[in-house]
Amino acid sequence: MIKSKVEIAPSILAADFTCLGSEVEHALKAGAEYVHVDVTDGHFVPNITIGPLVVAAIRPLVSAYGAVMDVHLMIESPDRHIRAFAEAGADILTVHVETCPDMVSTLNNIRSLGVRPGAALKPDTPLSVLQPMLSELDLVLVMSVDPGFGGQPFLPASTDRVLQVRKMLDRVGSKAELEVDGGIKAHNAAAVATAGANVLVAGSAVFGEKGSIGDNFNAIRSAANK
Ligand code: DX5
Ligand code: ZN
Repeated sequence: MIKSKVEIAPSILAADFTCLGSEVEHALKAGAEYVHVDVTDGHFVPNITIGPLVVAAIRPLVSAYGAVMDVHLMIESPDRHIRAFAEAGADILTVHVETCPDMVSTLNNIRSLGVRPGAALKPDTPLSVLQPMLSELDLVLVMSVDPGFGGQPFLPASTDRVLQVRKMLDRVGSKAELEVDGGIKAHNAAAVATAGANVLVAGSAVFGEKGSIGDNFNAIRSAANK
């Protein structure tokens, strides 16, 4: 079942870090119900971004607006860091299937800390890896660019991957969120939403465009809900 309302999750990776709180607040004021935090380690992906300190710093703001702290871990051995992100205030912790030899155990570990677990897949990872863990997931994140960097173009094959994951979730009656991440703009938001995604991550399209953060956010959200 496809939810009628599609949400946009602004990725702070594209925000101006000299005034991160204000940037995030502009998105929250515009109605963002998720704030997406991209964590990388320089191993699973080449670059290093941010960690639990930043999650903890923006947690009060995100809570004040009743939004969800959506943390995407693009790191090796995520089990070593799950507690730190849970304590920093993550509501959702998404780990990459490519980094977890025992996904079900990692997902249970996340849930045992009171956090909703998600599984992310790189663009080339076969969707069949999700099958054994479908009932354990609160979120599936389909990457529509190679993980690590914001501002990359959307990979067109991702739309069909979203469609396939939507079918897999529906088949088992899962209520998990289906999130798509990378290269989302107003012009492609409707297609991924129609394919079955209900949370669309957008970094550069929200924080990196010329318009105001609020206007950029609203443009993508209305496009996604058309
Ligand atoms: C990429 C990250 C994305 C990225 C999205 O590794 O997971 O969340 O920041 O940024 P845009 O929207 O600029 O592609
Ligand atoms: Zn992300």
